[in-house]
Parts: sequence; C-alpha cells; structure tokens
Amino acid sequence: MADLNELVEKLSAIRTSIEEDIKNVSNFKEAFEYRKVLMDSKTGKVGSLMREMGKIPGELKAEYGKRVNELKNWAQGAVDDLEKKFKEAELNLRYEKEAVDVTLPSKKHKIGNLHPNTQVRNQLVDIFGSMGFDIFEGNEIETDYYNFTALNIPADHPARDMQDTFYLSPDFLLRTQTSSGQIHVMEAQKPPIKIISPGKVFRSDDDATHSPMFSQMEGLVVDKGITLCDLKGMLDVFVEKIFGDGTKTRLRPSYFPFTEPSVEVDVSCFACHGKGCKLCKGTGWIEVLGAGVVNKKVLEDCGIDSDVYSGIAFGIGIERIAMLKYGINNIKLLFESDVRVLDQIDD
Ligand code: DAH
Repeated sequence: MADLNELVEKLSAIRTSIEEDIKNVSNFKEAFEYRKVLMDSKTGKVGSLMREMGKIPGELKAEYGKRVNELKNWAQGAVDDLEKKFKEAELNLRYEKEAVDVTLPSKKHKIGNLHPNTQVRNQLVDIFGSMGFDIFEGNEIETDYYNFTALNIPADHPARDMQDTFYLSPDFLLRTQTSSGQIHVMEAQKPPIKIISPGKVFRSDDDATHSPMFSQMEGLVVDKGITLCDLKGMLDVFVEKIFGDGTKTRLRPSYFPFTEPSVEVDVSCFACHGKGCKLCKGTGWIEVLGAGVVNKKVLEDCGIDSDVYSGIAFGIGIERIAMLKYGINNIKLLFESDVRVLDQIDD
C-alpha cells in the first residue's frame, strides 16, 4: 500500500518527466498534440492519474486528489505557456514574412502618353490661350470659296498651284489650310477678333517632310490699330515658350494672297543657338511659319471696314514644330503609330 511520500514522489517524477518532454516540443502543433497525449484520461501521464484513485487508501484520497489537481493545473499552465510562446513566435514570423514596407516607392504603371502632335497642339493652345486667344474649330470639308476665293485666291490664280488640292466635287474640297477658318470667324463675328484654329488639312503631297494629311494651327487677330509689330511681339513670346528662352524670331518678306505684307517667320536655331548646325543647315535660322497683315480685300469681303480695323494672321505647321522640337527626321514617323518612337516623346 502506498504511503503519501511515495505518491508525492511519483507525482514529482511525473512533473520532472513533463518538464523534460516540454523541452522537446518545438512548435505550436506539437504543443497542441502534447496536451492531448498528456491529458488523455486513459493513457495520459496526468489525465489518467484520477483513475488510480481506487487504489489509494481512503485516508490519503483527499490529499492525493488535491496533489493530482495541483499537478494537473501546473501541467495545463505549462502547456498553455508553451502554446502561447509558439503561437506568438509563429505569428511574428508570419508578420515578418508578410510585412509590407509602406515606405517603398510604388510600382509605376506605365500609361501611354499623348501623341507628339497632340502634345504640340496642346502646348500651342496653352501658349496662345494664355495670351487671350479663343479656339475656333473649322471644317475639314470646305467649299472652294472659303478655302481659296475668300482668301483672295480666285479661280485660275497661280497661288492655287501652291497647294495640290483634293477636290471632292467642283465646289467641295478637303481644306488645304486652316486659313479657311479665318473667313468663317470674320463673317460671324465683329472685331475685336482673337482666335486660333487648330485642325487637319489635306494636300496631295508626299515625301519625307510632307504628308497628304497634316495639322496646322491658324491664328487671327483683328482690331483697331493692329500692326506687324504686334505680330512680331506675339511671336517672340510664342517661340521662347515653345523652343526655349533666348529663341529669337526673324521676319522675311514672302507672299500669301490673303496677307499684305506677308512674311516667313524664322526662329534662331534652338539646337546650336545660331552658330550653324545640321538642323538649321548651317544658317543659324529655321523657318517655322507663315504670317502677315490681313489683306484689306479679305477684311472688306467679310464685311469688316478696313479703314477702321486691321488684322494679323499666322499659320503654323504642327508636325513641323513637332519634328523640329523632338528631332524627328521623317514625317511618316508621326503617322505610323510605332510605340517605340512615340514612347520617347513625353514632353
Ligand atoms: N495658309 C498658309 C499655308 O498653308 C499659312 C499661312 C501663311 C497662314 C500666312 C496665315 C498667314 O494665316 O497669314 O501655307
């Protein structure tokens, strides 16, 4: 028959063996399984102790029961601690693995950029918009009258040969110049007039610097006392904004039937700053647009009194500006939509 000492020793040996067992538990799952084994009511080192109550002498039962409960509480606490320790460690490991460094720069999603033509058009619109110009949207299909006659280019005028025209019928054509918009505006609006009109134009023309369809932007100012000086001053501001500070303009005499006098406008070469390079063909100057003082006849035909009002006009080739600005040597590159080319121009 067991005495109390023997029982206490037995319980203490069980505790020591549990302490040893615990040293070999290495993760939460094992701790969880170990609790089941330990507390199994038939086979468990702790769970089965109460089954032995029958064998314990009556006077020791209460003490034994108390000690067994103590051991059980201790064992449960020990496994609780163990589980908690592993749970925390495993959670920390997971946090570490799944950690997101919110300070890292985000992945850039490449979104497309606007077509170089659109970029230049927007720049032109912004620049002239900031000078107070309104936008007029003209028609791509025009009558012979608006594209030529009203611009002082009557039938059989040699200037018609300057532009190879796509006729749709004897009276209708694809406009060869945004200048046709000038007439619409002057017919519809009384001075002061200050508009730009960007859009597509069409000519039967095709080589490295010409395309059958291209874009222009027309400008027209009509008011009292407008002179060539206003044109020069305005273009000086424009070229610095589009080609960079220090870019100068130079006006050369030219001829357009709808302006008198007419000028070609050159800019100082923004690549070599006037020294002479490939871009400016060694001259230091690059031709960028046509302009002039609106011909009195054009004003009069639109019902504007040319003794009271005068005007200036200019026409800019948008592809030409894009080609110069971005170093594009063939206008086709602006129409082929090759992303390897377009990707490089994000101004
Ligand atoms: N329309 C002309 C062209 O296509 C460009 C031009 C020249 C427009 C002089 C103008 C101007 O308004 O005044 O060649």
